[in-house]
Amino acid sequence: MARTDLHDKVAIVTGAGVGMGAATARLFAQQGAKVIVADIDETTGQATVDAIVEAGGTASFVHVDVSQAEDVAAMVQAAVDRYGRLDCAVNNAAVTPDTHPIAEMDEDEFDRVIAVDLKGVALSMWAELRQLLAQGDGGAIVNIGSVSSFRPQPNNAAYTAAKHGVIGLTKVASLENAEHGIRVNAVCPGAIDTPMLRGALETIGATEEEFAPALSLFGRFGQPEEVAEANAWLCSDAASYITGAALMVDAGYTSR
Ligand SMILES: NC(=O)c1ccc[n+]([C@@H]2O[C@H](COP(=O)([O-])OP(=O)(O)OC[C@H]3O[C@@H](n4cnc5c(N)ncnc54)[C@H](O)[C@@H]3O)[C@@H](O)[C@H]2O)c1
Repeated sequence: MARTDLHDKVAIVTGAGVGMGAATARLFAQQGAKVIVADIDETTGQATVDAIVEAGGTASFVHVDVSQAEDVAAMVQAAVDRYGRLDCAVNNAAVTPDTHPIAEMDEDEFDRVIAVDLKGVALSMWAELRQLLAQGDGGAIVNIGSVSSFRPQPNNAAYTAAKHGVIGLTKVASLENAEHGIRVNAVCPGAIDTPMLRGALETIGATEEEFAPALSLFGRFGQPEEVAEANAWLCSDAASYITGAALMVDAGYTSR
């Protein structure tokens, strides 16, 4: 069996209804994992499950708002109840960036972005790590950051702060859990063609042709499946010597 295989691993993917989360859940199932598809939106989450099952894989849906501790605790418990354990998780759920300068901050919007995009990752790891530590035989977690984890954008304070924070959370968790064989890494996507990016393009009234060359050395948006590959590899045994890393999947945007 290839070391990149996820055969019989039990995985949680948050925000798996659409976009990169859905692509990640599909790829994990294709590689043999049993997948908890966790999302706040039951319709799209169930559609991801249906696609996986139709393709011969194993998955089931859990409704979760990652900003709520009781929801993420129930999400991890569902993995244990349905599939017996937890091996890996991709904490991917996030909400669309705020669009105000700090001087015009909308406090409710700021709180919501931080609650989902930063606290949601911390709460997800809290529940996942407790289960992995109780099992006592290691595991792997991938947190989804962004190019905004390193390169700030104007009018994006809450999202930028949250995504910087995801790197901090990832590093702290990697330090705390290496001795237990638990690897914790971040994947930082660039411009990836998902409903989130399409929504942002609509807001600014731009097209891929106008926008992509400034965001990608390849002059095109990435596909969700190209990020899913990085997530799967980092969760697999092939990445056994990697923890505390932030892997850019951004077509060279941040190297410019
Ligand atoms: N699309 C991009 O270009 C881009 C770039 C960099 C980073 N990212 C990051 O990649 C990840 C995935 O982004 P995407 O573009 O696929 O997003 P998306 O908006 O297309 O999908 C996000 C998913 O998360 C779910 N979700 C939202 N709030 C939730 C909550 N509170 N609890 C549970 N689920 C919730 C949504 O229902 C949806 O299914 C996010 O962390 C995002 O910040 C995206």
